[in-house]
Order: sequence, then structure tokens, then C-alpha cells
Amino acid sequence: MQHLTKCHAHCNPRRRSVSRLTRTNVAAFSGLLALTLSACGTADSVDDPGTPTIAAPTVEPASLRTPNSAQEAMVGGTFNYDATKGGTVFGGTGLTYGVAFTPSANGLSAVNGRISGTPLAAGITTATIVATDASGTSVTNAFPIVAFAADLTAPILPSASFAYSDVRLPLPRHFTQAPPNVGSPQQADNTPALNAITDAGATLGRVLFYDRRLSINDRVSCSSCHQQQFAFTDTARLSKGFAGGLTGRQSMGLTNARFYTRGRFFWDERAATLEAQVLQPIQDAVEMGLTLDQLRTKLSITAFYPALFTAAFGTPEITTDRVGLALAQFVRSLTSVNSKFDRAFAPSGIPDFPGTFTAQELIGQNVFNGRAGCARCHGTNAHISDDIHNTGLDATVTEVGAGAGRFKAPSLRNVEVRGRYMHDGRFTSLEQVVEFYNAGVQNNGNLDNRLRGQGNAPLRLNLSPAEKDGLVAFLKTLTDNTFLTAQRLSSPFSR
Ligand code: HEC
Ligand code: HEC
Repeated sequence: MQHLTKCHAHCNPRRRSVSRLTRTNVAAFSGLLALTLSACGTADSVDDPGTPTIAAPTVEPASLRTPNSAQEAMVGGTFNYDATKGGTVFGGTGLTYGVAFTPSANGLSAVNGRISGTPLAAGITTATIVATDASGTSVTNAFPIVAFAADLTAPILPSASFAYSDVRLPLPRHFTQAPPNVGSPQQADNTPALNAITDAGATLGRVLFYDRRLSINDRVSCSSCHQQQFAFTDTARLSKGFAGGLTGRQSMGLTNARFYTRGRFFWDERAATLEAQVLQPIQDAVEMGLTLDQLRTKLSITAFYPALFTAAFGTPEITTDRVGLALAQFVRSLTSVNSKFDRAFAPSGIPDFPGTFTAQELIGQNVFNGRAGCARCHGTNAHISDDIHNTGLDATVTEVGAGAGRFKAPSLRNVEVRGRYMHDGRFTSLEQVVEFYNAGVQNNGNLDNRLRGQGNAPLRLNLSPAEKDGLVAFLKTLTDNTFLTAQRLSSPFSR
């Protein structure tokens, strides 16, 4: 302003008009100011070394004012969005706009910052709008455009929530009795103190578990590989992910995961907690293919989620932590307590197997608990792995698993309805599994001691045909049709 005043003094012809400039409207009059200065001529400013030369402030530089938020689109639908929001996204003089799309435009194009078109495939496109001002300075704003598959629906939930919590749906006595009662898995419960099952938390978990939005192209949900009718695994040797790629191992049955005492997950126990495990398939490049950022973006712009998060956690914020907590609550709700085996227990928790089982089933149970030693590893009334073991599937360990060829096993509950057995899905029937334990265990240096017999050689059970049939019959008493069809564990989506 000082400089301006000096100039006025020397520049009489312009004096009146320029003196009307105030501090606040100088910028708006920058064009006029430039004119004024040039009208002053160069002579006096060059002659006066104490006067700083003025930079030519011809334009207000481009700046980001109100960034775009994530936008929702639909495959096959019309998308039309002004990414300048009526010129409010950026400030600056004489802005021109360009838009770039990554990883691909997916059917969209842009003219002067307006993006339009028809998305071709479900996925996320990052739109980067570039605003360039009159002096050539550019500012960018990148935001996701989520193209959802056209056939997604909203979940249909009961007005009064299903029961999941231990308060509303207490576990039977033979699951809750404290030691010294033999068989109760109560001590093996891996529920962390801060994530006990609540009805609203597990309801959110159920929706997430069945929602195909949890994969990048809306093709697979958790339930694609963990299907209720197959005890939350699938019948393929290896499962197909969102783009048709195959998983490295067989999908695991999720029954009674709550009672795996070591609290670690995956065949090789690489996930330290269930809360950590459930976020991994979402990010897996074969299984679901989303980043956690993309997950949050997709759920945040899906209309029904904020209310479900509020019900579960008190506020509508969608965080990946909360997604993990809710999914873990739902997985821990997959407790099976209504098989024939369970029906042998009186409400007091005392069993009457002779009064419940057939003669064949009783033979099998005796072998399972006795001579074959199955119960030493598949223990408690939840029939869950006690630890990781090398079971001698091969003479040469081909997969190290959790180290030295050791793996955990899913609970044997509902094992009858799973199509495939073992981490690599090598067996297709319970008869094959029983024959393996009877005569097929291989000696590799790391074979578990419990599967070794005389002279440390692999155990040979020499089971009679009646004992083998009995074992299979006993394993079938662990099938729980209530669990396999329960609506509260089924998909809330109409398709
Ligand atoms: C593309 C198939 C696929 C999808 C989708 C998938 N899973 Fe899995 N799941 C697997 C396979 C395969 C394993 C075993 C992988 C391993 O151990 O290396 C597994 C293991 C698990 C386990 C470990 C169980 C245990 O006892 O250790 C849990 C829990 C689980 N999945 C839950 C989920 C949840 C929750 C989702 C959705 C967020 C999901 N899965 C999505 C295939 C899938
Ligand atoms: C030393 C501990 C141990 C003993 C003893 C044992 N198992 Fe296993 N069982 C395991 C482990 C560990 C796995 C998973 C192995 C793998 O996939 O590599 C498994 C897997 C299984 C499976 C397949 C589960 C699935 O979902 O794929 C069945 C069925 C089974 N065992 C039944 C039995 C029976 C019946 C006996 C007794 C004859 C028995 N087991 C004895 C540890 C044991």
C-alpha cells in the first residue's frame, strides 16, 4: 500500500480512481492496479532504489477450498457429477479444469470438471481433478468414485434383533461349567474382555459377513467361502476369490471358533486374534482385494451402515477396528450346541450317552475317546483343536504351516457336512479321514508324539471295520441341523 501511495503522488492522472482502492479490494482490482502501475511509467521507480519493485500480482493463485468426498455410482446407471461443485472446490482466477482417472476411467469421462458416463464394472475409480489458474499454477483434488454392482440390496433385519449375546442366548451347562467338570470348553473361550458378543454387534457382523460390498468388485462375501450349509466352509479343495483366483489352502469351517483356546487363527495360526484375522481376507489380493481405506469408503457411502454402527457402538463412525470387532462377534456366535451329541446332556450338564446314542455310535465314541486318542487333540464338548500338530499327512513335509508341518484343525462339529478335509482339502469323505488315522500316518521327523506308537513308529490303530464305521457314525452325531439352518446365522440379503 505504501508503494501504491507513492505511485499515486507521482501519477496524477490516475490518482482519483486508484485512491478508491482499499486494503480489502486490492485483489479484486488487481487488473486495474497493474494498469495503474504501468501508467506510472518506469522512470521514477528505477530512479528510487529504496522502493521495492512490485511483483505483477495479476491472478489469485489456485487453491483447494472444499474437497470432493467419495461418490457413489452404479454399474449400468447414469453418473453425472460436477467435480467443481459449482466452482467452489477450488479458489483462483481464471481456472480451467482437467480430470484424470485411475486405474481406469471405467466408462466415465469429464468436460470442464463435470464427470459423466455409465460405469462398466463394479470397482473404485480415483478421479483426480486438476484446477489450473491463469498463471499456470495447478492444484489437485483426488476422490474415489465407487461403482457398485447393480444387483446389491439392503439387508432385511427383524425389528427386534435376533439373540446372540450370552445373556439372551445362554450357552448350555455342558459348555459353561467350570473345572473340574470334564469336557466344558468354558476355559478355552477366546473372547477378549472388550469384545463380548452383543446382539447389535453380532447383527452388524452378520450383515458384514454376507455383504458382497466387502470385495472390490462386489462378487464375493465372507459367506462365498464360508457357507452355512457346509458348516461355514465350502466344498471346493481351494476356494475362488473375487477375480476367480484360488486360495492357498482349503477354507476352514468356523463352528465353535470361539473355543479355540490358543485364540490364534488360520490353519497356520498366523493371525494373533480373531479380531485381527477377520480383516485379512478383506485385504487379501486373491480373496476380496480391498484396502482398509477402500473398505471404509464403501461402507461409509452405503446408506444402511451408519445406523448399524450406531446400534453396535454408540456412534455412526465406520472404522476398520469396529468392522473387525463386529465380524469377530458374529464368528464367535457360530457356536453349535444342538447336535445329537448335545441332546445327550441333561439341563444339569450331566450326559446320558447310552440312552441317546445307537450301539454303533457308542462304539465310535469309545474309540474316539479311548484307543484312537482322537479326543486328546479334538477336545472338549466343543470338539476343538487343543493346539497345533504335525499329523503325519506326508512323509516329507511339503508345507511348514505354523512351523515343522504343524496345523490347527477346525472344531469337528458339523464335520459331516464339509466337503473336504485337512488344510489342503486332500480328503473327500470321513471314511478316508478315519482310514488315514487308522493306517496312513507317515513318519516325518516332526510327527506329533500322540500319533506315534511302539518304537516311535507312526501309530497303526488296526481298527476293525465295525470300529471304523463306529467312528464315522460318532462323528455324524456332531451334526447340528439347527445351526446349519438358523436364520440368525443366515444371509440377511434377499440374494
Ligand atoms: C475366497 C475365499 C474366502 C473368503 C472370501 C473368506 N475366507 Fe475366511 N478363509 C478362507 C481360507 C482359504 C481360510 C484358510 C486360510 C489359511 O489358513 O491359510 C480361511 C480362514 C478363515 C478363518 C480362520 C478360522 C480358524 O479357525 O482359524 C476365519 C475366522 C475366517 N476365514 C473368516 C472369514 C471372514 C470373516 C471373511 C470375510 C471378511 C472371510 N473369512 C472371507 C477362505 C475365505
Ligand atoms: C495329534 C493330534 C491329533 C490326533 C490324535 C487326531 N487329530 Fe484329527 N486333526 C488334527 C490336526 C492338527 C488336523 C488338521 C491337520 C491338517 O489339516 O494338516 C486334524 C484334522 C482332522 C479332521 C479334518 C478336519 C477338517 O475340517 O478338515 C478330522 C475329521 C479329524 N482330524 C478327525 C480325527 C479323528 C477321527 C481322530 C482319531 C482317529 C483324530 N482326528 C486324531 C489333530 C489330531
